[in-house]
Amino acid sequence: MAATAAVTTSGSLGALRAAAPVHQGGGQLRIGIVGVGGRGSGAAVQAVSAHPENVLVAAGDAFADRLENGLSGIEETLVEGGRKAQFQVSKERRFVGLDAIDQVLATGVDAVLLASPPGFRPLHIEKAVEKGVHVFAEKPVASDAPGVRRVAAACALAKQKGLSIVSGLCYRYHDGRRAIVQKLQEGAIGEILSMHGNYVTGELWNFDRQPNQTELEWQLRNWLYYPWLSGDLIAEQHIHTLDVMAWIKRDVYPIAAMSLGGRQTRTDPKYGTVYDHFATVYEWEDGTRGHSYCRQQNGCWRDVNEYVAGTEGKANVFLHQITGKNEWRYDGKARDMYQAEHDEMFAALRAGKRIDNSDYMCKSTMMALLGRMAAYTGKRITWDEAWNSKEVLMPDQLSWDGPPPKSEVAMPGRTKFV
Ligand SMILES: NC(=O)c1ccc[n+]([C@@H]2O[C@H](COP(=O)([O-])OP(=O)(O)OC[C@H]3O[C@@H](n4cnc5c(N)ncnc54)[C@H](O)[C@@H]3O)[C@@H](O)[C@H]2O)c1
Repeated sequence: MAATAAVTTSGSLGALRAAAPVHQGGGQLRIGIVGVGGRGSGAAVQAVSAHPENVLVAAGDAFADRLENGLSGIEETLVEGGRKAQFQVSKERRFVGLDAIDQVLATGVDAVLLASPPGFRPLHIEKAVEKGVHVFAEKPVASDAPGVRRVAAACALAKQKGLSIVSGLCYRYHDGRRAIVQKLQEGAIGEILSMHGNYVTGELWNFDRQPNQTELEWQLRNWLYYPWLSGDLIAEQHIHTLDVMAWIKRDVYPIAAMSLGGRQTRTDPKYGTVYDHFATVYEWEDGTRGHSYCRQQNGCWRDVNEYVAGTEGKANVFLHQITGKNEWRYDGKARDMYQAEHDEMFAALRAGKRIDNSDYMCKSTMMALLGRMAAYTGKRITWDEAWNSKEVLMPDQLSWDGPPPKSEVAMPGRTKFV
């Protein structure tokens, strides 16, 4: 077809972008990555592995050491997998700094993988869409409500431009979860009465403060512990659970939430200003309740699962099992969900189709922020209040010379809803 015939001499489909952003046919697809940490490195390998003509050509990170370590790991994995030729991140296309996104996009990539801390995601998605580049965006997509609204607006523009928006909410690409959610949506346990989701686990990594490190660098390197960067653990990690609940409800989102939360074990200043647990109850308009628990404390019971109760049975989502009137257990294929995201994204692009995960990507981020707002303030917060919240945690401009935004541990009953 025409798009295939028009492949440039370099073999890149990039030249077609202005006219036909949904790529079709063969030829190279040039991929860039922004945020070459743990997840970004994995996503880069998966994106390249999705097709023999996908090539990684550009990379950016706030820090040189993170960039080089990440790229070494990616290159090593691709070489081991027999994909050496698909790693083409030359020295000239490695960018360091807070504006690395601009430089990666300026290389003319077809698709970009966005895996920096979530606070940067609204700006990065806006810039990618503006440039006409397909996006894979890790979750969550913002740390505050104005950020979610910006992402939603950018995704509307992406739709007009024919750009794909693929979300890192990876359970949606898990075969067993897809199967059980479909069963639940079809009524396998009757009317759903309540859902209970756990993401109760241990502490994550923490980097020691180094001499001569500015406060901003310290916070960026320990971004998990600052709500302006991570959204707090209810958004950064527990979003997966909340996204599954909303998915089971056919992407109808709750109307309100109340939440209890605080920090009991992570009180040391090295843990910034985030909480270490949240217990949140989401209310749906039809009366369904979603009870959700997340915790990052060592030495405690661990569980990551969703349990659903209905009028005719129960579901254990992790086990992909339904008990009650319609007994069922999934025994089908089990692809790696992280690989499946990229396989489906690039297969769609090459088939001239676009994937658009933007609706649930934005709303599940908002669902998490709604829970956080309810816990931080101690109030019952409605969906509409949360969606229209004016609280900006992530500043528009950040400079290495300036201080990070002010961040304090929230105190229920005293912290105001904004
Ligand atoms: N889908 C999943 O299961 C999953 C799993 C882990 C992490 N994640 C998400 O992926 C994202 C990254 O998490 P991670 O675990 O890889 O963290 P990480 O700290 O390992 O990586 C983040 C990288 O971004 C860099 N960075 C910081 N600010 C930047 C900026 N302005 N521009 C460019 N780079 C910048 C950091 O230096 C770091 O190298 C987060 O949103 C996280 O929630 C998703």
